[in-house]
Amino acid sequence: MCGIVGYVGERDCTDVLLNSLSKLEYRGYDSAGIAVFENGQITVEKSKGELQNLRDKISENHKPDGHCGIGHTRWATHGEPSDINSHPHGSKRVTIVHNGIIENYKDIKKFLIGKGYSFESETDTETVAKLLDFYYDGDPIDAIVKALKDIRGAYALGIMFREFPNKIFAVRKDSPLIIGVGEEENFIASDVPAILQYTRKYYLLEENEIATIKADRVEFCDIHKKEIVKEVKISDLDMDAAEKGGYEHFMLKEIHEQPTAVRTTIAPRIVDGMPNLSECGITEESLKNVRKIFIVACGTAMHAGMVGKYVIEKLARCEVTVDIASEFRYRDPIVTPDDLVIVVSQSGETADTKAALHLAHEKGAKVLAVVNVKGSSIAREADMVIYTHAGPEISVASTKAFSVQMAVMYLLAFEMAYAKGQISKEECMRLTAELEKIPEVIEETMECSDRCQYVASKLITTSSLLYIGRGLDYTLSMEGSLKLKEISYIHSESYAAGELKHGTISLVTDEMPVISVATQEELLEKMVSNIVEVKSRGAFTITVCKKGTEFNEGVMDEIIEVPVLEDVLMPMVAVVPLQLVAYYTTVLKGLNVDKPRNLAKSVTVE
Ligand code: M6R
Repeated sequence: MCGIVGYVGERDCTDVLLNSLSKLEYRGYDSAGIAVFENGQITVEKSKGELQNLRDKISENHKPDGHCGIGHTRWATHGEPSDINSHPHGSKRVTIVHNGIIENYKDIKKFLIGKGYSFESETDTETVAKLLDFYYDGDPIDAIVKALKDIRGAYALGIMFREFPNKIFAVRKDSPLIIGVGEEENFIASDVPAILQYTRKYYLLEENEIATIKADRVEFCDIHKKEIVKEVKISDLDMDAAEKGGYEHFMLKEIHEQPTAVRTTIAPRIVDGMPNLSECGITEESLKNVRKIFIVACGTAMHAGMVGKYVIEKLARCEVTVDIASEFRYRDPIVTPDDLVIVVSQSGETADTKAALHLAHEKGAKVLAVVNVKGSSIAREADMVIYTHAGPEISVASTKAFSVQMAVMYLLAFEMAYAKGQISKEECMRLTAELEKIPEVIEETMECSDRCQYVASKLITTSSLLYIGRGLDYTLSMEGSLKLKEISYIHSESYAAGELKHGTISLVTDEMPVISVATQEELLEKMVSNIVEVKSRGAFTITVCKKGTEFNEGVMDEIIEVPVLEDVLMPMVAVVPLQLVAYYTTVLKGLNVDKPRNLAKSVTVE
């Protein structure tokens, strides 16, 4: 979603803003812009489309020459992607960039029109800029405080007042913002990668704290103008991790990083052969007493939660409900203080997941967050956190984050099953030892890469396909379908294989390939029957199965074999060919793998 950057210092501000924005491209955007103080005025340059369009525009027309400015990549919410709707927005006296959504912008706009203001864009952001202008009478902080009282919604704002040419102001609520700290230079950014090339030091701006950023100093106050003293943090993010490292795309690199990511995530949580989540605040005693679990997340993270449901229910015999966060927050779920709510999020900033966390707290439940980004809002607000150690995931399509989220679900399931007396210590140690072997088995699974590329070549002219599976394989078919559609733009649906005949099978013809996930031995016969059903209606059948699985001749058009693990652990390897098929199909179609249209990496709006 939108990315914010800002700079004050000696360097060429336009260069810094463009460089920093390029590090936020992974978040997803459809236009970009900058505003720079230049000879006492604020020069704004913006352009629809890729950052390169903005670079081209600047090099053809005019490069703003200054040392203080703000920049933005916009993911359209209010108003189509266009030059006019791109940020920055402003008046003669105030210029801003904004991430989030102002819910009551129509009322504010009406009010301001009544006061004689006119508007150029369709954005909610322009109303905030003009509201700040309305309240401004020489004191920027006063204007910000007054404006914040009027606006409702989520925001991170970078603000420039024309009368304060060497300062940036920043404030946030429900959208992240950090302040980077350098030597005689300071920055603002939505995310640490934007500033890493300049500094590792940063402040985390908290809700409704107002920052005043100058080259030599950063000051903070609250909305009562009371000074706040904050602690500088040091990022341990690996710069190289945010580069492609020889791979053609981030997605492929991240698929190949899965063995390491899983190893790094599980290793510190295994002590003497047993799962041990005590460093995350989770004890056997607390797991023993959990009555019911709600797993709440969005998209791929929700699919990892589905795997968690199957595994926790099967092993620990504890009831688990999985909810899509945007549904959970509005369905008045029956959550009690005896329940455990687990929120799963790579970014830790997903607006709906965050709202689900707040709702769980309102209902008195404890919240455990499974999060990848350190210090993210969800991690900070939850009662307990299990960090997944996947490293930065840049590609919009989630791959390694999914694998580490599943790995955490296994650790939780094993520990809970033992705590609740459902499995013996020996069985818990055996399962844990199997999990420890998984990174190597994932390496081995990568050998199916060529096969996946070949299968992908058969899919590029397809306009629609189905993914089917049963049990754990059904959860994977959901993930496989999401992966393919989000990057290749081929329509696909996932179905519980046994449910097809209740309606969906009428869609099956020789123009509808069907990808089956058939790794669960207990369900294999049933799965084969379902595959035969679609095959006899003309479908081209592709099946992901355990190495050595035997099928009757003529049923499977293509098979992708993966290494054999016990059924419960199969998702850890079966997901790899699903990711690779989606990846290669997209590459063969010549599409932008890492930045699919309309999508954002971090979904910070509802
Ligand atoms: O950052 P989160 O894990 O909370 O994001 C949730 C979803 O937006 C995300 O998993 C999305 O579905 C994937 N990027 C799709 O590949």
